[in-house]
Amino acid sequence: MLRIGLLTSGGDCQALNATMRGIVKTVMHNTKEDVEIYGFLDGYQGLIYKRYIQLTPGDFSGLLSQGGTILGTSRTPFKMLDTPEADGVAKVPAMKKTYKDLKLDCLFMLGGNGSTKTANRLSQEGLNVIALPKTIDNDTWGTDLTFGFTSAVEVATDYINDIHTTASSHGRVFVIEIMGHKVGWIPLYAGVAGGADVILIPEIPYDMKNVIKAIEKRDEEGGRFAIIVVAEGAISKEEAAMPKKEYKKKVAERVKPSVAYDIAEEIAQRTGREVRVAVPGHAQRGGAPDAQDRVFATQCGVEAGKAFLDGRFGIMIAQKGGHMTSTPLSDVAGKLKYVDPQSDLVREAKLLGISFGDE
Ligand code: F6P
Repeated sequence: MLRIGLLTSGGDCQALNATMRGIVKTVMHNTKEDVEIYGFLDGYQGLIYKRYIQLTPGDFSGLLSQGGTILGTSRTPFKMLDTPEADGVAKVPAMKKTYKDLKLDCLFMLGGNGSTKTANRLSQEGLNVIALPKTIDNDTWGTDLTFGFTSAVEVATDYINDIHTTASSHGRVFVIEIMGHKVGWIPLYAGVAGGADVILIPEIPYDMKNVIKAIEKRDEEGGRFAIIVVAEGAISKEEAAMPKKEYKKKVAERVKPSVAYDIAEEIAQRTGREVRVAVPGHAQRGGAPDAQDRVFATQCGVEAGKAFLDGRFGIMIAQKGGHMTSTPLSDVAGKLKYVDPQSDLVREAKLLGISFGDE
């Protein structure tokens, strides 16, 4: 008898169910043993409080195109891992106990950066853990791609695309805020795919005078409108030069809802143009996974299922250079994968005339 546990942790994304389907199908098709499947509810919380559902292979059919997660998810911040829950429960010992009580052979953890740190800790504590790289942000170190990313780019691209008509009809400047936490992968890809004039990402601090210059240049060239794509973590050169603490304080004290509103106000003041802010928000994590995500999620699931059957643990499934592989969890934990400002796509976008506000 084999016993496997599944959990989805952190922000949801479009291809979580497709990934779990891939794991379960692979395990079932490649072992003669009976398999018990435990689905922990709401991420690590389910593991801490032994809240789970037992699933059958049939529960995983029809999931390839279903967004969200059938298990529910939650955030259990890594920095609070050794702080007991409000009711006094010690998280790590409780998770280990659940794993042992259920006699699990492996825990499959679908999660992003913070969740991977916890997975690494559990692995160091002796649990058999296999992590799978989930996040729309694509910022997981050790893999070229994360599942959720291409679907989020698709949603964001359609959104930017749709704004063009109103921007054009009214001759407005639109500031569109795109998700991505502390990195600029989604804004970069969606900005290029959606035809943005300016893309501001955290990895390339901007100077507002360059942003204004780009808008004015577009005016001179006869563009009636301008589309400014702003990462939720976009940062000015001035802010980038601040001590981290001071910058954090500034963000915490922001009066407006987010960075896009600050940037929009500054553009309106400096240019006298009519400026609007548009924020697709969590829709970027919603809906069905796109075809690429379904394929990649399935690949991740298959590789994770195979790693389990081969007895390889303490790893995160990854894609590098177009090949599926794995990375030790200890290497992944605590690192972020940033956009390289010298990357081909940034260079090509600049050659196309897209401004990143840096020059
Ligand atoms: O990590 C995914 C993500 O959508 C980020 O892009 C964003 O910063 C964050 O989660 C939003 O978190 P929440 O769902 O808690 O509002």
